[in-house]
Amino acid sequence: MSKLMDEIKQKAVLLNKHIALAEGEEERIIRAAEIISEKKIARLTLVGDPAVIYAKCPDAKLDGVTIVDPNHSELTAKYAELLYNIRKAKGMTEEDAARLAKDCTYFAVLMVKAGDADGMVSGAVHSTGDTLRPALQIIKTAPGISTVSSCFIMCLPEGSRYGEKDVMVYGDCAVNIDPNEEQLADIAIASAESAVKIAGIEPRVAMLSFSTKGSAKHDNVTKVQNATRIAHEKAPDLMLDGELQLDAALVPEVASLKAPGSAVAGKANVLVFPDLQAGNIGYKLTQRLGGAEAIGPICQGLAAPVNDLSRGCVAEDVVGVVAVTAVQCVK
Ligand code: ACO
Repeated sequence: MSKLMDEIKQKAVLLNKHIALAEGEEERIIRAAEIISEKKIARLTLVGDPAVIYAKCPDAKLDGVTIVDPNHSELTAKYAELLYNIRKAKGMTEEDAARLAKDCTYFAVLMVKAGDADGMVSGAVHSTGDTLRPALQIIKTAPGISTVSSCFIMCLPEGSRYGEKDVMVYGDCAVNIDPNEEQLADIAIASAESAVKIAGIEPRVAMLSFSTKGSAKHDNVTKVQNATRIAHEKAPDLMLDGELQLDAALVPEVASLKAPGSAVAGKANVLVFPDLQAGNIGYKLTQRLGGAEAIGPICQGLAAPVNDLSRGCVAEDVVGVVAVTAVQCVK
């Protein structure tokens, strides 16, 4: 496990946040809940039927963990009303809301919306779309942000010449397939915030392209140039520059030739990729060829944190995602 993940868990312990785990009946989640509760990484609610939970794991040590069954909870009616009020303008009926409030993912997201939990984690069983859609519909975006996106925190091998404290942040590698210039600007701002909040580094953001400072002309380059301008307008104090090729962003010698005078080029620690193909390939290259540990995808830009697990996750992965979610709860 990376040093950073250790630090994130320690931070989470101090914060003592309340996280809802939507898939409370899943064995990996139950085992993770035991570890989280024992190490006091977060206060937890497992969403699920206690009879099913204890049938699956009769030895489960869940003292201090709250278990709520949406089929029998008095909260469900309150959440159904909350959901109906949020979604009626989109055509949701009271019957739809009553049915959806019993769904474990909707129930956990509604807990966060109602202020009964600080954050929510799901996705060990459900797809990314089924995990994120209720959050997009109900929790919605943070003030000043219109796009929910994701980042990976890349923990590079010790002593790396790149990033800061052997850490880099990559966005967006998991959510927005072909972001427009406004969305790309939001991804940059949210990735910078994640760099501060979760990775504890001061962000220097590179808006990546196959062109550096107008060296190539193409609509795809113009998009990154416009996104850079919009991000500057929305976050004037953020250290951000573009458009930059990857080598100009990372290597001081190349930066001095291609982007002289840039405060970011040659020392970027947050990389913003122009689309999901580049971002997804980029993080996997760093992970596989560069030997980095990838923490994520971490969902960013929501008004309250919700994170999606990988369906191949093990209990220890869930513990990490819960710790990250707890750290994201800080406003
Ligand atoms: N930011 C803010 N709001 C959004 C976003 C977004 N990025 N995407 C959708 N919404 C809103 C919509 O406006 C809509 O709101 P409304 O109902 O209030 O009008 C609501 O969310 C639902 O919108 P849909 O378009 O129906 O969203 P959908 O559920 O189809 O998709 C999803 C959301 C799942 C995140 C989609 O963007 C997606 O599939 N992304 C790619 C995921 C993927 O395949 N990733 C690669 C693998 S992950 C990995 O490798 C780690």
